[in-house]
Amino acid sequence: MKLDRLIAKHRFLGRAEAHRCITAGRVRVDGHVVTENQHEVDRFMQVRLDEETVQQAQRALYLMLHKPAGVVSATRDADHVTVIDLIDDPDRESLHIAGRLDRASTGLLLLTNDGRWSKRLMDAASKVPKTYLVVVDADIPPDAVERFAAGMEFQPEGIITLPAELSLLSPRQARVVLHEGRHHQIKRMLGRLGCLVTSLHRESIGGLSLPDELEPGSWRALTPEEMALL
Ligand code: URA
Repeated sequence: MKLDRLIAKHRFLGRAEAHRCITAGRVRVDGHVVTENQHEVDRFMQVRLDEETVQQAQRALYLMLHKPAGVVSATRDADHVTVIDLIDDPDRESLHIAGRLDRASTGLLLLTNDGRWSKRLMDAASKVPKTYLVVVDADIPPDAVERFAAGMEFQPEGIITLPAELSLLSPRQARVVLHEGRHHQIKRMLGRLGCLVTSLHRESIGGLSLPDELEPGSWRALTPEEMALL
């Protein structure tokens, strides 16, 4: 939101009057005087007019969770435990998920209350590779590598999947790298090859890998270094 709009709304002022408060140097954003009417502010910034608080800064949360199987990637669910239920933080209700995993899938999941950050991450989804370890119920056919690289037609989306990398680790186990996140993408692609996924685990998103010491069901805040990796 623009600073003049926030001030006007808070004080029931007209825009012109809000502009006078701002240009007179009476408004501080995170402790610094701002005299630009159109200065962009978000809910993570503290805004004061003279000695009065116009807006409290909300805590910005950027979390990683080791999602266990059986927990849904949703903020609410009538029948199942959700990933939010696993986060014991007072502000957990403000969180949303940046890139879901299916209920049976496990591994790295990111949560935040910063919509701009998650949008940036998702908008860039085609450039952020996501790596998965997959186990299936039948031998993966020899043409799997080419079929993943060539892309597959998905209906009802009416798209061809972006080139994806599949590397065989054993006859029924593979590592898959996706550059997008279509609904049940890996299950659907392997299903076309006659394989049913029995285990699917996300190891990494971009340069960020699930740390070994983060047990299933555990979570922690991302460090500034990890944020930079994304
Ligand atoms: N592909 C799937 O099929 N499921 C996931 O959870 C992630 C990718």
